[in-house]
Amino acid sequence: MTQKKNMIFVIFVTFTGALAGLLFGLDIGSVSGALPFVVQEFAIDPAAEGWVVSVLMVGAAVGAVGGSWFSKAFGRKAGLLMAAALFVWGSVLAAWAPLAGWLIAGRFVLGLAVGVASFTAPLYLSEISPVRFRGGIISLYQLMITIGILAAYLIDTALSSSGAWRWMFGIPAIPSAMLLAAVLFLPRSPRWLAMRNRTDEARAVLARLRETPGEAQQEMDEIQESLAVKQEGWKLFRASPNVRRVVGLGMLLQIMQQFTGINVILYYAPKIFQEAGYAGIQQQMWGTVIVGLINVLATFIAIGLVDRWGRRPMLTLGYTVMALSMGLLGLLFHLGTATPGARLFSVMVLLVFIIGFAMSSGPLVWVLCSEIQPLKSREFGIMCSTTTNWLANACIGYIFPVLLQWQGAATTFWLFATFNALFIWLTVRLTPETKGVSLEHLEHNLMAGKALRHLGRPVDA
Ligand code: BGC
Repeated sequence: MTQKKNMIFVIFVTFTGALAGLLFGLDIGSVSGALPFVVQEFAIDPAAEGWVVSVLMVGAAVGAVGGSWFSKAFGRKAGLLMAAALFVWGSVLAAWAPLAGWLIAGRFVLGLAVGVASFTAPLYLSEISPVRFRGGIISLYQLMITIGILAAYLIDTALSSSGAWRWMFGIPAIPSAMLLAAVLFLPRSPRWLAMRNRTDEARAVLARLRETPGEAQQEMDEIQESLAVKQEGWKLFRASPNVRRVVGLGMLLQIMQQFTGINVILYYAPKIFQEAGYAGIQQQMWGTVIVGLINVLATFIAIGLVDRWGRRPMLTLGYTVMALSMGLLGLLFHLGTATPGARLFSVMVLLVFIIGFAMSSGPLVWVLCSEIQPLKSREFGIMCSTTTNWLANACIGYIFPVLLQWQGAATTFWLFATFNALFIWLTVRLTPETKGVSLEHLEHNLMAGKALRHLGRPVDA
């Protein structure tokens, strides 16, 4: 294959893998706009309304566990196919739902899809990426999530005057079907193939994905070295304290991502816009679209810089920005936003928080979680971290309204500011710099007992 054809293939593979993120975003973003119409049509009580929203997270936690088993047994490509099929099924079910129960079932299936996709896509991307672009490529997955959320806001805004909520749920079936078709053309992960002793196929895939035969050969050698470890998965976790350390780190990183308060901010945005004097429904809807757009644009900062600056400095900067903006939001709520200037300022602070998240924790936690696990227990480790993401997300969803009622907005935001400040410290103490380091090199250092934050250092240092 010529260099150019090779490049086009790599781009196709990368985008298709990342497309799963788009569906993830579409499905988490669409519900807020559809909800008022759903409540009206089925005359459901607040408890059922809560289920329509949160059953997706329950499904996602189950999907992440099921997806890890599935993609180990049948491969990452099969996992992506499964996710795409579930996306189509769930969207059709939710759009068709004659009763509220069917809608909840449809949202559960969508949750399964999101869970399988959020497990499989970053794993697949990490296993096919060349070392020097790996951070940027996995960050594309987060970019797609943010584009999905934005597209969902736009669809909801466009359909809000007609109240066509079934279309809000149904439209994602189209990109889902496209994903299903595109995945058929993806190569299997070379690392999964090697694990299954399909060495020649693994070699052939690497030859298509790497620039030079030398590069492909070196990677193949490294993969084979990691495969020499006899135990795997849960057994390796029980036997090796090093594996336990890194599984714990993955889970902690995801808890940190959720406890930044990003989903609270995304959820709370219309209210902040309302308080800022943009009270009309249309104004609030457009406010949400701006939030979605900033989320997309700031993710490009991460894509551009993650393989140059590295993961640690970007995370540290992001948590600092988030701590400061949460602190300021708390202060603004404490003092009251009486003047137009103060109101506008609160909207700006909200947007700065989104930038802080989108350039750091949003993409980089997915990047790190898929990089740090050793090959033989990678599915297990990523399953633990992805499931933690969904459980922590659900947990914040339940805690936030209670906190708000009990302590008020100012204290709640200050609490999140404190969390973000703590995460700066945790990043410095625990997070490794994985920029430009091969997955096998990270594994070598981990198994040699190096401190977590030193996993990316040269092997003999
Ligand atoms: C998080 C989601 C969040 C989204 C926002 C993702 O990385 O896992 O919980 O809603 O980013 O862009």
